[in-house]
Order: sequence, then C-alpha cells, then structure tokens
Amino acid sequence: MTPTLLITGANRGIGLALTERYLEHGWRVIACCRFPGSAPHLMTLKNRYTSLTTHALDVTDHAAVQDLASRLSDTPVHLLINNAGQYGPKGYQLGETDTEAWREVLEVNTIAPLVMAESFTPHLTLANNSGHTPIFAFISSKVGSMSDN
Ligand SMILES: NC(=O)c1ccc[n+]([C@@H]2O[C@H](COP(=O)([O-])OP(=O)(O)OC[C@H]3O[C@@H](n4cnc5c(N)ncnc54)[C@H](OP(=O)(O)O)[C@@H]3O)[C@@H](O)[C@H]2O)c1
Repeated sequence: MTPTLLITGANRGIGLALTERYLEHGWRVIACCRFPGSAPHLMTLKNRYTSLTTHALDVTDHAAVQDLASRLSDTPVHLLINNAGQYGPKGYQLGETDTEAWREVLEVNTIAPLVMAESFTPHLTLANNSGHTPIFAFISSKVGSMSDN
C-alpha cells in the first residue's frame, strides 16, 4: 500500500518542503492549507503529481477539520504532520500586548493540533489495521520551550 501523509500548512515554508520531499519519495500526500488557490508552488506540484490532493483548511475551524475527516473517512493516514504554526507578535513594548493575536497563536499552536489528532485518529487506526505503524508528528519550536527560554 502506498503510504499517505496528511500535512497542515502545506502552502509555504517547512510544510511545502515536506510535501515536496514526500511526493518525491512516492508517498500520497493530502496537503492542507488555508488558501490552496493562492499557493502557486503547491499548484505546480499538483500538476506534476497525481498523488497530491489539496484541501482548504484553517486548522482553527474545528467544524472544517471534522468535515475533512468525515470526507476522508475511508482513507488510511500513515503520517499526520501538524505543521501549521504561528510565531506570534514580535518587537512590542510592555502594555502593548495584542491579546487577540496571542489567542490565535494559542489556538493554532496548541488546540488545533489536539483537535487534528482527535479527528484523524480513525484514519491512523485504519493504517495501523493494515500492518503499518502510523505516526502523529507535531512540529514544535524552541520558542515554545520553558527550559530553553
Ligand atoms: N522555520 C523555523 O526555523 C522553525 C523553527 C522551529 C519550529 N518551526 C515550526 O515549524 C512549523 C512551520 O514553520 P515555518 O517556518 O515553515 O513557518 P511559516 O513559513 O511561517 O509557515 C507557517 C504555516 O502555517 C500556516 N498557518 C498559520 N495559521 C494557520 C491556520 N490558522 N490554519 C492553517 N494553517 C495556518 C501558514 O499558512 P498561511 O500561509 O495561510 O499563513 C503557513 O503555511 C511551525 O509550526 C513552526 O512553529 C519552524
């Protein structure tokens, strides 16, 4: 069975690079990002690889995550990479904290990966039932480390 990767934030940066690498290695890739139609490099890959499908997904939209999981309910996922992330506001002074922006950072970086894992557990179980060891991968950062900061 061709292994399948599902990845978030696939339109640019590390997500796009991982998407391309896995396609090159013969994987089927389900690439999710907020605006696939505005992701030219991803669209170029889609023209090159029939093994690539793209889906519009804002990871903070939990109903949309669940809807995608339902639409892919027959699809075994061998590797789910929670890559979408935000660094948050930088370079501001005490008293200028943008609480809405930080709330969104926490939604994207902490709650969304948990909801993704919950929603796609059945798909990884399907892969497990066919004799593979499925993997949930969560891309973290030293920025989120207690001991390194
Ligand atoms: N680059 C590094 O050196 C480094 C170091 C440590 C950890 N990381 C982690 O690695 C991951 C990727 O980093 P990167 O450097 O490639 O970051 P990036 O270039 O800033 O890309 C971030 C990705 O996350 C997506 N994203 C943000 N909010 C989203 C949302 N609500 N729903 C769906 N997608 C959303 C972005 O989509 P849009 O284009 O739509 O905004 C983009 O695809 C992040 O989790 C980051 O924390 C990176």
